[in-house]
Amino acid sequence: MTPELAVTAVALSLAGILSFWILRLYRKLQAMEQYRRDLIVNITHEFLTPLTVIKGYAETLLLDKPDRRQAQSHIEIVQSHADRLMKMVEDLLRLSRLENVNPRERLSLVDLREFCGELYHRFKPRLDARKIAWNFAFKPPLGNIETDPGILEIIFNNLVGNAIKYSEPGGRIEICGEREGLNVRFEVRDRGIGISREDQKRIFERFYRVNKDRARESGGTGLGLSIVKHAVKSLGGEIAVESEPGRGSVFYFTIRA
Ligand SMILES: Nc1ncnc2c1ncn2[C@@H]1O[C@H](COP(=O)(O)OP(=O)(O)OP(=O)(O)O)[C@@H](O)[C@H]1O
Ligand SMILES: [Mg+2]
Repeated sequence: MTPELAVTAVALSLAGILSFWILRLYRKLQAMEQYRRDLIVNITHEFLTPLTVIKGYAETLLLDKPDRRQAQSHIEIVQSHADRLMKMVEDLLRLSRLENVNPRERLSLVDLREFCGELYHRFKPRLDARKIAWNFAFKPPLGNIETDPGILEIIFNNLVGNAIKYSEPGGRIEICGEREGLNVRFEVRDRGIGISREDQKRIFERFYRVNKDRARESGGTGLGLSIVKHAVKSLGGEIAVESEPGRGSVFYFTIRA
C-alpha cells in the first residue's frame, strides 16, 4: 500500500468513528429532548385537573352565593385539590433534588433497629386504623449500616405508605433485610390488591397510577415510586417488584452499605 493510500485509509476510518460518535450524541440529545417534552406535557396535564376543579368551585362560590353549608363543602373540595397540587410540587422538587444528589457526601451509620422502630411509630396510627399487622425480620440482625438515612427514609416511607394504602383492612406488612456481599437487600411485602404484569412494567414511571380515579381520591400523584427508583439508584442499588393481583406485592431493593 502506498503512503498516500494508507493516509487516506486512516483518515476514512477516523471520519467513520467520528461520525458514529456524532450520531450517538445526536440520538442521545434527541432522546433527552423528547424526555423533556414528555415531562412538560405530563406535568401540565396533571396540574390542570386540580386547577380546573379549584377554579370551578371558586367561581361557583363567587357567582352562585351558595348557603353556608354548601359553601363549606365547596371550600373543603378546593382545599383538598390545593393540597394535592402542593404534594405534586413537593414531590417534583424531591425528585429533581434526588437526580442531582451525591449521597456519598451524606453517609452515616444507621442503626436499623432504631430506624424500623421510628418507621413503625410513624405509621402506627394508619396501621391501627386499618387493622394491618406489621412485622420486620432481619436475619441475621443487621445492626448498623452505612448509608444516607434521609434517602433510606424516603424509600421506606413511600413503599410502606403504598403497602398500607393498597391493602385491605386486616392485611399484613412485612419488612425483611439481609446482607448480600457489598449490598443490603430489603423487601417490603404486603397482602394487598396486587398489581397486574402489564402495570408492573409502568408503575415506576412518573405520574403512572393503575387506577387514576382511586388514586385521585386518595390524593396520590403517581410520583412516589419514581422518587423511590431514583432514591434507590442514588444509593447504588436497584429496585424490582413481584406481584399477583388479589394476593399482594413484594418490592425488593438493594443499597450499597
Ligand atoms: N403495594 C402496592 N400494591 C398495589 N398497588 C401498588 C402498590 N404500590 C404501588 N401500587 C400501584 O402503583 C401506582 C404507582 O405508585 P406510586 O407510589 O408511584 O403512586 P401513588 O401511590 O398513586 O401516589 P403517590 O405519589 O402519592 O405515592 C399506584 O397508583 C398503585 O396503583
Ligand atoms: Mg405511593
